[in-house]
Amino acid sequence: MQVISETGELREAIKAARSQGKRIGCVPTMGALHAGHVSLFHACRSQANFVVATIFVNPTQFAPHEDFSKYPRPLEKDLEAAKLAGVDLVFTPTKEGLYPEGYSTYVTVEGVSAPMEGALRPTHFRGVATIVLKLFNLVQPDVAVFGAKDYQQQALIRRMVKDLDVPVEVITAPTMREHDGLAMSSRNVYLSAEQRKSAIALWESLNLAEDRLHDGETDIQAVAAAMLQHLQKAAGVVPDYAVIADPQTLQELTAPQPRMVALVAARLGTTRLIDNKEIAL
Ligand code: PAF
Repeated sequence: MQVISETGELREAIKAARSQGKRIGCVPTMGALHAGHVSLFHACRSQANFVVATIFVNPTQFAPHEDFSKYPRPLEKDLEAAKLAGVDLVFTPTKEGLYPEGYSTYVTVEGVSAPMEGALRPTHFRGVATIVLKLFNLVQPDVAVFGAKDYQQQALIRRMVKDLDVPVEVITAPTMREHDGLAMSSRNVYLSAEQRKSAIALWESLNLAEDRLHDGETDIQAVAAAMLQHLQKAAGVVPDYAVIADPQTLQELTAPQPRMVALVAARLGTTRLIDNKEIAL
């Protein structure tokens, strides 16, 4: 497995893979790899024969009060995990390499970036879209894989790729879950034992929404209110939102439709968790 930090070296390695006729796949990550990331590497491998993982804690997607400096960076462990998962090349750029002095260009995706995470973290998606487009320009992948856990993020990347004619196929791989259903996340390591127990309320609230809708409930606001109530009942859980939305536009629904997505976000102490579930009627 190659490990490359310099953009020039990366371009050379990609050129070499291309010249061997390889189909290039890319899995952008911020490291702190867990089984969820490994499943993305495997999904990528099933679509490509040269798998590039990027590991970069992207400063532009963190607000000043967020956890950029304390975000876990276990690089050696991550490289080991990537190697075990069959990744061909890991790109580990530096902040200075990607955002040199004088850097001034950002990508804004309107609409899909506005509600939920976008409303609560106003500069977050601008940072995500910018870094993902930069990584696409550097790696020039045929296919890129993102996790369904960051549902709004994958919808935004799909929108950006379509709007800007980026020649990459975007694949969304299913969320990996712990034994009790908690979505795997690099941020789960911050949870205390008590918080870890309460965190299951997110997954429960999504299942509750699905059950209500499958039982024929047509009042979407009542379903969202029930999700919120379920989150509020869990010790130490402070919900940010509980929403039923359209899977493509992420706009909140006022009536059930054949395909929907339920999304929740909540804080447990200083840790913020998100989760979602697609619901089909
Ligand atoms: O999902 C993530 O880990 C990040 O938002 C991404 C896509 C790697 C961009 O920094």
